[in-house]
Amino acid sequence: MQMENHLTTAIEIAREAGALLVQLFKSPMEITYKRRSDLVTEADRRSEALIVERLRRHFPQHAIVGEEGGGQQTDSDYCWYVDPLDGTTNFAHGFPVFCVTLGLAYCGEVVAGVVYDPTREELFTAEKGAGAYLNNERLHVSETADLARCLLATGFPPFATNHDLNIKFYFRFTELSHGIRRAGSAALDLCSVAAGRFDGFWELKLNPWDKAAGSLLVTEAGGLVTNLAGKPFNLLGDDIFASNGLVHEEMVQVFSEVLARWTR
Ligand code: IPD
Ligand code: CA
Ligand code: CA
Repeated sequence: MQMENHLTTAIEIAREAGALLVQLFKSPMEITYKRRSDLVTEADRRSEALIVERLRRHFPQHAIVGEEGGGQQTDSDYCWYVDPLDGTTNFAHGFPVFCVTLGLAYCGEVVAGVVYDPTREELFTAEKGAGAYLNNERLHVSETADLARCLLATGFPPFATNHDLNIKFYFRFTELSHGIRRAGSAALDLCSVAAGRFDGFWELKLNPWDKAAGSLLVTEAGGLVTNLAGKPFNLLGDDIFASNGLVHEEMVQVFSEVLARWTR
């Protein structure tokens, strides 16, 4: 019952924040820079302020970690990971691929997650052990077992971190698959794995707010989430590799081969 309240409230908040983003998307806005190529807009800040205010009101004891720093530290076992606008660069350029994402961890394990894409009105939800859904329809990962028939996705952090290595992965998987998409929202990429639109997604450096909700979506849709070495997923770690499970081992092998050549 309590879990249902968490998810229901998170959905309401994500929808409200999504509506705000859509409204702001239509108006010109000021862009500032956290670092070179690391943009932040008024929309990031206003969306986070809204989400944090609502979470605090509903769950005053819970810890909140928001990308823009608006959260709160408590000694609760519950922690919300909030990305108020995943896909900021897209948003700032008028490219309509972005979302709001809220993931709830209990003792470090993600137990509920919401990703809301307000331009497509797609609401992705998951609860631990209760499946993953898109607009209330059950989601399942793809059944593609042949890497040569896979559509994959990756991303590059807005600040340079091992871009040269990821370009090598990108290059090799482009040769081995139907291709790689780099759409600019890690949370939506993970949802696309959960929905069977992508067969696999990896990224070398993601923050917990980018991947909390999306990682649960993938596992609850029957997929597998690990690090690039195929070892257990760590929400607070850097890298993530999510797939339909069927091509996981083969892709881990490719990561390892490319990495060995890169470090030689
Ligand atoms: C970014 C997006 C992007 C990913 C970056 C993230 P932001 O988040 O998810 O797809 O490649 O690593 O930082 O900055 O738009 O919230
Ligand atoms: Ca993000
Ligand atoms: Ca963000």
